[in-house]
Amino acid sequence: MLIPVLIAGGTGSRLWPLSRESYPKQFLKLFGDHTLLQHTALRAQAIEGAAAPIVVCGEQHRFIVAEQLREIGIANATIILEPEGRNTAPAAAIAALHAQKRYGDDAQLFVMAADHYVADAPAFGLCAVSACAAAAQDHIVTFGIKPTRAETGYGYIQQGAALDACAFTVAAFVEKPDEALAQSYLDAGDYYWNAGLFLFKAKTFLSELARFKPEMLDGVRVALEGASKDLDFIRLPPSFRVIESDSIDYAVMERTARAVVVPMDCGWDDVGSWNFLELLGADGDGNVSSGDVVFDDCSGTLVHAESRLVAACGIKDSVIVETKDAVLVIDKSRTQDVKKIVSRLRASK
Ligand code: GDD
Ligand code: MG
Repeated sequence: MLIPVLIAGGTGSRLWPLSRESYPKQFLKLFGDHTLLQHTALRAQAIEGAAAPIVVCGEQHRFIVAEQLREIGIANATIILEPEGRNTAPAAAIAALHAQKRYGDDAQLFVMAADHYVADAPAFGLCAVSACAAAAQDHIVTFGIKPTRAETGYGYIQQGAALDACAFTVAAFVEKPDEALAQSYLDAGDYYWNAGLFLFKAKTFLSELARFKPEMLDGVRVALEGASKDLDFIRLPPSFRVIESDSIDYAVMERTARAVVVPMDCGWDDVGSWNFLELLGADGDGNVSSGDVVFDDCSGTLVHAESRLVAACGIKDSVIVETKDAVLVIDKSRTQDVKKIVSRLRASK
């Protein structure tokens, strides 16, 4: 049995001003008729043999999640609510403990970031299915994307020996290296980006977490025992707040000897900055418009207009995002710095 686990508790601050604390990017309709969470849930549901999903999210987003799943006809999800995000390791551990209790030790979990873009969902599904054989042998499967730049916001996976027709052992896993290291991995040619997807048996992940982060696992176990059932939600108690905050990548993937990688070619993008607008397709001058936009003598410029007409003239390599209460104008090479703006705004609140 393969149980999709959608981890949907991120803040998505790099897509400010559209993504807000109260309404982060996984809940936004950035591509077509569905939100990123809905696309992710539909992608998960289409995988052969997939059971009802588990969603782990912030308590404050429970009705958004329930409503968005209802809109796409998913009525049987388990929604686990965190009183406060403790990053992805505790979120995955909660899902693994819940799944182990409900479905047994051998239940396989497919942990998916809820805020990514995938162009080719069938190819994505095939990769997941082919990863199940490795997971059945107590491996923790990661999915590798061929890198195209020295991105410092990703994990890097060095490919080792072939395990089977589609999986390789992991020679090294390095989360968010600095720029020089990222460049050396790109040059080396045998590294992948970590796609932020993990497939494993509940038991495998929990035993690795018990080795590397025993206190975290104890805290998560106590929190799940103290959880209350509230309508359709499993609500974690306040004790969850004091669990160490750490990501799967640092807590487990950098340390485990059980990692394997399945290379994946499915048009993946993590929608990690406003440059994602390029996925919508550019005109002959490299401009992209989303919403009501007029360009005059512009090039390489990406504009998202939410509520008003935006006209740009003589603008180059910039990003403009208009929303009702805030407008962002930024150099296209600086879009990662939106995070800094958000921190400044938070500090001045
Ligand atoms: N429930 C819950 N609680 N979800 C969370 C939390 C939390 O505290 N923190 C983050 N998430 C969700 C986010 O919504 C997202 O869907 C996913 O977990 C990954 O978190 P990010 O914060 O976006 O991670 P990242 O982008 O810095 O890095 C990860 O993804 C990269 C690919 O996009 C790592 O796995 C990298 O190694 C990887 O390359
Ligand atoms: Mg991310």
